[in-house]
Amino acid sequence: MERLYSSFITALLFGLLLVTAGSAMAQSLNGKELYRNNCKVCHDKGSPQGQYSPMTLTQDQWRTFFKLKLIPAHKNVLHPKTGGKLLEQLTPDQMKAIQRFAIDHAADSEQPATCG
Ligand code: HEC
Repeated sequence: MERLYSSFITALLFGLLLVTAGSAMAQSLNGKELYRNNCKVCHDKGSPQGQYSPMTLTQDQWRTFFKLKLIPAHKNVLHPKTGGKLLEQLTPDQMKAIQRFAIDHAADSEQPATCG
């Protein structure tokens, strides 16, 4: 009986762990948050690199940017908070989430937006 009880507790804890890990991952693929932490830091209002929020560009311009300009324009760019190379700090999935957020809220999208 006691054994049954402790394996129940183990299963419960394991389940809790999975839920926590799952939400941490969902968090790190939140395009808006990723944009704010990794793009807006250098492209806020008045910043010398130019202000870019999703609604600065059209959907086509964002597609072209991610395809052709992202890497050449940011190759040597260091993340202002961590000091590491920006492009090495983002996983391909995170970059995709940023791209999706930018396109979904571009100037000619249904819900143009800045990133707050
Ligand atoms: C450390 C600062 C920094 C960060 C972080 C950063 N950028 Fe940039 N960004 C730059 C610089 C520098 C340029 C180049 C400006 C130039 O060449 O005139 C640039 C250029 C751009 C341009 C214009 C490109 C063009 O040629 O038209 C866009 C759009 C842009 N960044 C979007 C982003 C997005 C999206 C992110 C997040 C994934 C991001 N930037 C993160 C510094 C940064």
